[in-house]
Amino acid sequence: MKRVAVLTSGGDAPGMNAAIRAVVRTGLEVGFEVYGVENGYAGLIAGQFRPLGRRDVSEVMQWGGTFLGSARCEAFYEVSGRQEAIAQMEKHGIEALIVIGGNGSQTGSYALSQMGFPVVGVASTIDNDLAGTDVTIGVDTAINVALEAIDRLKVTASSHGRAFLVETMGRKCGYVALISGIAGGAEVVSIPEAELGPEEIAQAFREAYDRGKNHALAVIAEGATYNALKLMAYFEEHRESTGFAVRATILGHVQRGAAPTAADRLLATRLGEGAIRALARGEAGVLTGLRGNHVVTTPLEEVVNTAKPLDAELAELARIMAI
Ligand code: F6P
Repeated sequence: MKRVAVLTSGGDAPGMNAAIRAVVRTGLEVGFEVYGVENGYAGLIAGQFRPLGRRDVSEVMQWGGTFLGSARCEAFYEVSGRQEAIAQMEKHGIEALIVIGGNGSQTGSYALSQMGFPVVGVASTIDNDLAGTDVTIGVDTAINVALEAIDRLKVTASSHGRAFLVETMGRKCGYVALISGIAGGAEVVSIPEAELGPEEIAQAFREAYDRGKNHALAVIAEGATYNALKLMAYFEEHRESTGFAVRATILGHVQRGAAPTAADRLLATRLGEGAIRALARGEAGVLTGLRGNHVVTTPLEEVVNTAKPLDAELAELARIMAI
């Protein structure tokens, strides 16, 4: 194999740049030529390739986002879109593709590999909802952003005796909310895998005050049925009966743009290297991830057909620590 391409796809995740850098430098190390694809699968279909050398990936690691650009690409869901992508890669002499991205992006990788094109995925999303890896690139940074917000909000919550709701991103996965809740000392955490209703959250707030706390903070995953907006509607309607004021902060996209933490830079560097090593061994149709602190590959078929389970021990830890 001579020429490989790399793209970033889906929601940007802090650490993607470090992963591209590792792909380029390891690729050159093992004798490949590496091409970057601009704007994810959309750029693949449009043939937006450019060669990447060692100096092209200097001074990128410390930035969030992705210097190659990313996109959510509807056309790639169609067979015709993927056929066009393969035709573009063949035209440019590209023999394998590395896809740095999350769930939707790796579903695209799997579909492409099913059509006979060699693809290796790199697990990257702030949601940490991908099977085949303990952690994904970007989730540590996103959690640290949430944590900083929680720490600040607790100061205000304590000063006013107020209750706060903090909504974190993560789609249908509660990992970011759960870890932020544990590390931030939340009184209650509600996640899609273990949902709480408004009455239960109100009750948890009340119990926190009864135990002598001067604040009460709930971390709510955006994918919970009762997200922050719905909970606020409830608390406004029941202001008199609950007896305390509640404020909500929806973190949203601020969780994605931060400078990657050391953990994310290291993870991205290891997984980027792992993707090239997998191709050099002749592996394809796999995802590069981290399990038990080892870089491993898992068939994309397994990755896209397996739901990542909630860590029940962490959920229990969050409950115990909140009391
Ligand atoms: O998948 C990453 C993520 O940030 C999710 O947590 C969130 O639900 C979604 O992307 C937001 O998507 P968009 O950036 O397209 O609005």
